[in-house]
Amino acid sequence: KFEGMAMTPPMGWNSWNTFATDIDEELVKETADIMVASGMKDAGYTYIVLDDGWMTRERDEEGNLVPDPEKFPNGMKALVDYVHSKGLKFGLYNCAGTKTCAGYPGTRGYEYQDARFYASLGIDFLKYDWCNTEGITAKEAYTTMSNALKKAGRPIVFSLCEWGDNDPWEWAEPVGNMWRISGDIYPCFDCEHKHPENWSSWGFMKIIDMRKGIRKYSGPDHWNDFDMLEVGNGMTVAEDRSHFAMWCMVASPLIAGNDFREMTDETLEILTNKDMIAINQDKLGIQGFRYSAEDGLEVWAKPLSNGDWAMTFLNRSESDKKINFDWSENAIKDELNNISTSFDTTVYNIKNIWEDKKAGTTKKNFKSKIAPHDVVTLRLIKKN
Ligand code: DGJ
Repeated sequence: KFEGMAMTPPMGWNSWNTFATDIDEELVKETADIMVASGMKDAGYTYIVLDDGWMTRERDEEGNLVPDPEKFPNGMKALVDYVHSKGLKFGLYNCAGTKTCAGYPGTRGYEYQDARFYASLGIDFLKYDWCNTEGITAKEAYTTMSNALKKAGRPIVFSLCEWGDNDPWEWAEPVGNMWRISGDIYPCFDCEHKHPENWSSWGFMKIIDMRKGIRKYSGPDHWNDFDMLEVGNGMTVAEDRSHFAMWCMVASPLIAGNDFREMTDETLEILTNKDMIAINQDKLGIQGFRYSAEDGLEVWAKPLSNGDWAMTFLNRSESDKKINFDWSENAIKDELNNISTSFDTTVYNIKNIWEDKKAGTTKKNFKSKIAPHDVVTLRLIKKN
């Protein structure tokens, strides 16, 4: 892979969660415009990624992929240039199999040719899916595409999407910059959404719970990808906040999946919360962990630079909860990274992030109410 392309989790937008294959030039341009005008770009969102459905149903006589001329009448290169002119980056999608999941031409057997095409378009990001892959192995297929991109010469973030079915965390660090760890996300708290074709997509807390023991594999330039965001796609504001907070706590890529043209102020505020994004983008790149879970109240912790910590309290239950957190009785330890804190000896200033205010120090219990499916996120700021 191209090294150093994703030292913090990639941030951007992807068409799939809202639009599926119903995508076109106008949508991309408007999304890019709003990314800049709304403050999303300033908050760190960079990549605009077209998912499945950007091609015609067949390759041309020379075997080249063809951007659908009805959806993209001015051609893909002009669109990439437009996105670049806004100071943003552009991504495309394809699949390791013979066809994409939506039935468009897949890359199997055309890896080097497709990689040259992407380089000629000037794209910056490739998401690479895993449908129609009978008879091939994931490690080999993703390695081949990774090598093809390298050979084509244009630095491109390589995003693996085999849903965690082939333990990518064990082999993909040299191959790609991020890998999906689950099937598709669904905009709900922790439901399982069964599709008639006999597969499921998952509420965001189901994805959080899905894999045990993989946090050690995630870090700068090689991230566990918990899938694209569903913020603004129909959940309650509390659930959107929890979803975003959890993605920040586990250092997942932050790829928005909503329709920017219909974005409410509340959605924009969540997606651009600077303190939350600072937790996600922290240079240490450590995936946070569940510190405790009791009676529907979970406490998550994530070590940050300069000795700071992020703490998120999450109410998984259907009733209001009270937090009364006695710091002196809690020593938080990240055994994997050998980072720990003892609140007896170290005092931290507390910022309550979602309320955007100071909340005293760790000398006194932290008390708060927390509504069902909502979160309270704190930044513990180490005093010098
Ligand atoms: C399956 C992936 O997991 C989704 O994110 C999306 O890319 C679709 N395929 C597209 O067909």
